[in-house]
Amino acid sequence: MSGCMICGRPVAPFISFGRMPLANGFLGPEEFSTEFFFELKAGFCEPCALVQLVDRVPSERMFHDRYPFFTATSARMVAHFRKLAESVRRDRMLSRDPFVVEIGSNDGTMLETFASAGLRHLGVEPSANVAVEAERRGVRTLRRFFDEETARDIVREHGQADAIAAANCFCHIPDLRSLAAGVALLLKPEGALIFEDPYLGDIVAKASYDQIYDEHASYFSVLSVERWLAPHGLRVVDVEPLPVHGGSMRYVIRKAGAQEPAPEVEAARAAERRMGLDRPETFAGLARRVEASREALRALLRKLKREGRRVVGYGATSKSTTVTNYCGLTPELVEFISDTTPIKQGKFSPGAHIPVRPHGDFQARYPDYALLFAWNHAEEIMEKEQAFGKAGGRWIVYVPEVGLR
Ligand code: TMP
Ligand code: ZN
Repeated sequence: MSGCMICGRPVAPFISFGRMPLANGFLGPEEFSTEFFFELKAGFCEPCALVQLVDRVPSERMFHDRYPFFTATSARMVAHFRKLAESVRRDRMLSRDPFVVEIGSNDGTMLETFASAGLRHLGVEPSANVAVEAERRGVRTLRRFFDEETARDIVREHGQADAIAAANCFCHIPDLRSLAAGVALLLKPEGALIFEDPYLGDIVAKASYDQIYDEHASYFSVLSVERWLAPHGLRVVDVEPLPVHGGSMRYVIRKAGAQEPAPEVEAARAAERRMGLDRPETFAGLARRVEASREALRALLRKLKREGRRVVGYGATSKSTTVTNYCGLTPELVEFISDTTPIKQGKFSPGAHIPVRPHGDFQARYPDYALLFAWNHAEEIMEKEQAFGKAGGRWIVYVPEVGLR
């Protein structure tokens, strides 16, 4: 057992999913026999209020030159990042010759705005293939994991940053101490860090256990973020709930003394205490709801199978790997998974080995049921797939509850 990522104390699991493959480890049949597995367990460190993975997978196994996640595959996410970029540009880039850094810059979707405006920017991205895509769009990218040493090197070469942005990235970084120290080094005294990640409050409220997988080392809340950053002289000055990625929180962080926190911060803290996000019983309760959800989904899929219905998965998301493996979904229950990402197509889903096929295969012959693995993109998908419903197709969802739509 590795210790708490903030304080180092041992962390006991409140939920164990069993043996799991890498969530983004889409693979060919020739790789089945050498597939990597680990024990997926989440635990809660009460003094830090941090939900986290108990056993972690080395980062190099997950983020490399074949990382299959590209921000730009979702039109809504592109719009979301354009808006973020505009607000950072308007509110934070106020010095002479300002400098913005994005940690986990993926395909450059967010930084592209700065690049095309000729503003000084730097993306930090260890997954080489997505970094290449960013560079193709004119986004300057450092192919490296972000930590204290990376921060020191960036400051040496470019100076400190007016703004640091990170979306769906900090939850991927297991060494939280080095991350916070790096941010403190890189940020100007009057600068701001804006980061967002899937929110623990949403995971508990919706029992969205599929957020739990190898890449997500931490599941943040306002309470845990404050306890993590305070020793580094960093303070949460604003928070904003966001609908993306199944429910996220955006945190605005500044150096202690730079700005009084907005009233929203205390309101969020109070709401978290009411939800019990600082108490272990909450997570014991979550574990029971997750088991019940698994039983309900299995029962529904087995019933449909007995009735001879065709079920196809929609969206080979990283999250779906937890669902397919934890719930024991096989190609007998889910014929294939439709996905628009070219490098996932023709491969098989991690662990469960359900074929991943292009969206055209879904459209060419609609199944009776589509199991909505990409539930975080439900709105965008429902809008696009109206013809499926008109043809008599039904959606199977499992967040917040197993049911049909
Ligand atoms: P994400 O949940 O991690 O953002 O991944 C979404 C996955 O779903 C990604 O592989 C692309 C796929 N997808 C589709 O196949 N069709 C769609 O309409 C959308 C929005 C996503
Ligand atoms: Zn701790």
